[in-house]
Amino acid sequence: MQNHFTYLKERIEDISAGEDKSIREVLKQIDKGALGIALLVEPDTGIFKSILTDGDVRRALIRGVDLDSAVSNVTRPKSITASIETPPEKLSKLFGEAVRIIPLLDSNNRVVDLALFDTRIYLPVSEPNLGDKELKYVSECILTGWVSSAGKYVTRFEQMFAEFCGTEFGISSSSGTTALHLSLLALGIGPGDEVIVPSFTFISTANAVVYTGATPVFVDSESTTWNIDPQKIEQAITSRTKAIIPVHIYGHPAEMFPILEIADKYNLAVIEDAAEAHGALYEGRKTGSLGDMGIFSFYGNKIITTGEGGMVVTDNKELADKIRILRDHGMDPQKRYHHSVLGYNYRMTNIQAALGVGQMERIDQIIEQKCTNAFFYTEELKNIPGLTLPPNAKWARNIYWLYSILVDEKEFGISAVELGERLKIKSIETRPLFPPIHQQPIYDTKQILPVCEKISKSGLSLPSSANIRKNEIHRIAWEIKKIQKSIANDRCDTLL
Ligand SMILES: Cc1ncc(COP(=O)(O)O)c(C=O)c1O
Repeated sequence: MQNHFTYLKERIEDISAGEDKSIREVLKQIDKGALGIALLVEPDTGIFKSILTDGDVRRALIRGVDLDSAVSNVTRPKSITASIETPPEKLSKLFGEAVRIIPLLDSNNRVVDLALFDTRIYLPVSEPNLGDKELKYVSECILTGWVSSAGKYVTRFEQMFAEFCGTEFGISSSSGTTALHLSLLALGIGPGDEVIVPSFTFISTANAVVYTGATPVFVDSESTTWNIDPQKIEQAITSRTKAIIPVHIYGHPAEMFPILEIADKYNLAVIEDAAEAHGALYEGRKTGSLGDMGIFSFYGNKIITTGEGGMVVTDNKELADKIRILRDHGMDPQKRYHHSVLGYNYRMTNIQAALGVGQMERIDQIIEQKCTNAFFYTEELKNIPGLTLPPNAKWARNIYWLYSILVDEKEFGISAVELGERLKIKSIETRPLFPPIHQQPIYDTKQILPVCEKISKSGLSLPSSANIRKNEIHRIAWEIKKIQKSIANDRCDTLL
């Protein structure tokens, strides 16, 4: 049987406080320790006296106890402790709704270990954030039989999402990739045409161009936001170029105004690939709403999910109408089974859209949580030498789809890959950043695009779902710090 707790003796020092300290001092320590408790000990001997929770402090303050009085004035319920000798099976039975941390004592009543209840030992890079509403709406589709692409949820989801982006139209599709394909087709892009894309993105940005018969032309990133470098776009434009697809990578917007200016100058269309950037802001405007069209993905690891799914948003009615026809077998909306263009079955189902409507009711909350989590990460990691934290340009709101860092192997001590491997041993999942597409075997253009090659090689995404808790971020940061300390110590040993 799995024991739903971990031992955490490394954290004892962080959360131990003398009983003679003030409530204010101990509260600061509780906040820093991010476990919601402090261990009160006798100042001289270190003998354990009791657990103090943030709830105990709150109740005392409501009763009028002064924040600067001694912490011993706070009434505390009897603490649950156990002997260090307690076998795990017995220990796991001591946990309950109000008992999440158990100090383990030696025969002198000193805390020598902590048992932390945690059903989430394993921390994934991402996981969907689903709730009762999603279950209710999906169940309704099943109970009423509206399971295919006809049904009220498809239109409702499209309207909600377009409104969220600040665009007039939203046209759902079966995936982010098909949304990209549809938007290129609607522009009439095909064989002989070229489309400019960043090399540093997920493969489908380029693949969708190839599906139309056109050629993707890869451009390097700029080093601040990791997105397509506007200064390198012009040199990639030829007489065949028809469009630019900037990607808002990992949730940080690309520099849109210079891109739109270039597009204007050369009469090119702009499709924003916002598959990873729902709700991100460029100069106060939602990503997806700045170009001729914007596309989104609702794959399970995205900001919101419909299982699989995608959306094109636009203010252009002509493009919106074309996309609706193309995603539905090219069928004439006025004349059933009449097909004057080659179309596809790229429709979203009512079940997927029902999931999407449930998610849309919480999208602001999910984004807010991701930004808060990113703030916690940044606070924890900002002083570690050799780490570059995710960008957040002053003209942007990054929504941190994946909180991704760059690891300078020389300064940090090990590579991003090795850091990922060491975190895996600690049940912390990480993910490498996308390999540049110009180096992928199916493209292999032999270009040298140094900025994105470096970013890709040195990057790592950390657990980033909105569900992750502050103490889990603390645990991840703590493991990273511990890994670096051990490397630094190894280096000192070698020098001696
Ligand atoms: C930048 C980017 N574009 C396009 C897509 C394709 O979306 P989907 O997986 O829904 O087809 C993704 C998906 O991960 C993506 O990250």
